[in-house]
Amino acid sequence: MSLILEAVLEAEDVARVLSELDAAHWAHGKRTAGAAARGVKENLQADNANPRVQALQRFVTDALRRHPMFEIAARPHRISPLLFSRYEPSMNYGAHTDDALMGRGEARLRSDLAFTLFLSASESYEGGGLVIESALGEQEIRLAAGDAILYPAGSIHRVAPVTHGTRIAAVGWVQSTIADAGQREILFDLSVARTRLVEAGGAREEVLRLDKSISNLLRMWAKL
Ligand code: NI
Repeated sequence: MSLILEAVLEAEDVARVLSELDAAHWAHGKRTAGAAARGVKENLQADNANPRVQALQRFVTDALRRHPMFEIAARPHRISPLLFSRYEPSMNYGAHTDDALMGRGEARLRSDLAFTLFLSASESYEGGGLVIESALGEQEIRLAAGDAILYPAGSIHRVAPVTHGTRIAAVGWVQSTIADAGQREILFDLSVARTRLVEAGGAREEVLRLDKSISNLLRMWAKL
């Protein structure tokens, strides 16, 4: 399941992140690519050893964690350190699939879901869509600044060449407490139904029954 998360960052936060990234050192993205992706990755990445970049990573990750749809769609257990990526004209990231296991030691995680949070205003650059393959064919995603897409890390995906302007985004990966995508979708649907029921002034008894089902499915399926 793929899902668009709207307004993860407000406009003023996007502007602040972009202006701070302006001063960051950008290195070639091949350094952080897995073996399979290295040959097709042509972009730049902000230096994650820089304390100012690390503060931005935390800021954006916290915003994502606060987003109500992120919580129920991803059921996050671990989130990778964010990467801020930058594409200048002619840069692109060819078709690849993400490494299943990432990071070392404490930071080791299984990538169940990937996300891209768009930071550059979509009208400020051309090209640069995130293209995701699914059973229904290719889907090209290009979102407003501050919006994010959550999608299966195991999909084949690419970033189309930027033909004009600069495309800056934050990308990262999530290990879900629910490894199975089908089970995660059942929990997502139940949680959305619960929210709608509460919004429609649903009876306490029905909401309670749904809460019980969601909780007990989590007990059955969640792995910490
Ligand atoms: Ni990828």
